[in-house]
Amino acid sequence: MKLAILGAGDVGRSVADLAGEYGHDVVALADSSHAAVDPDGIAVESALERKVGGEAVGTADPEDVFDTDYDVLVEATPTTLGDAEPGFSHVQRALEADRHAVLANKGPVAERYEELRALEAESAGSIRFEATVGGAIPILSTIEDSTPEAVTAVRGVLNGTANFILTRMAAEGLDYEHVLAEAQDLGVAEADPTFDVDGTDAALKFVILANVLSDGGFSLEDATVEGIQNIPGSALDLAAEDGRTIRLIGEATRDGVRVGPRLVPENGALAVTGTRNIVQIETRHAGSLHTSGRGAGGPETATAVLSDVGRLPPL
Ligand code: HSE
Repeated sequence: MKLAILGAGDVGRSVADLAGEYGHDVVALADSSHAAVDPDGIAVESALERKVGGEAVGTADPEDVFDTDYDVLVEATPTTLGDAEPGFSHVQRALEADRHAVLANKGPVAERYEELRALEAESAGSIRFEATVGGAIPILSTIEDSTPEAVTAVRGVLNGTANFILTRMAAEGLDYEHVLAEAQDLGVAEADPTFDVDGTDAALKFVILANVLSDGGFSLEDATVEGIQNIPGSALDLAAEDGRTIRLIGEATRDGVRVGPRLVPENGALAVTGTRNIVQIETRHAGSLHTSGRGAGGPETATAVLSDVGRLPPL
């Protein structure tokens, strides 16, 4: 497949780097820096200029991307809430041009799911979005392979930053503020980790899962969300006396989405440590399926994007 990549952060750049290993070509890679563009549409002075397969593929303007001969638009611009722009319009343009779109950007799938599906229904292209939930962990493909109708709930830990903070607080008896600063120093937490610690990032992922289970109907404002900012170190000490710990747990069902700190058994499956994620997929006839691994990171999330690309039909 020929990939046009919008978004040149860790994920977009990693998709560009790894695409060749999966047998795909990158025809464009852009963010919105609008740096100088040469007559062939290739940015010569942009920080985005990169070599993929010996060719420079960096372009500086998203508009250039839509002029390339691509099969799949990879939408990896930053997640935005509400109208989910500009990500939604990027995907819309690809589908209206009868191309596929693979999203790493959570916004359109969480906030405008039904509109995306309506656009897809009119297009020769398809959308896929494994990278929006749990990085490298095959969650949506597991649901797809188990048939979504047979899945009753998906629950677990889908934010590595919050999990790292809770793990360190419990292990070292440290306070939230101290561990947050440590997580930022280590590069685990973003400079602005608001959405990680207030539950928004996890909620977006569980809203996407609820949309998959119900074929739409949910957005972030339907979710009940509580973060980890107000958990005192003493709460984790108390939990430990009882063989338990606290994790930021989300749950998606056909009735809604809830995310918040929950007591879980210290040695149980949900008490993953560090930045790991885990989900438990509850099925009607086959019990619980568990899948766990790295839920964030450039190469990890790029793996999910490229797995989606591999599942797309030829155009
Ligand atoms: N910041 C997220 C996390 C990854 O810490 O898990 C991107 O959704």
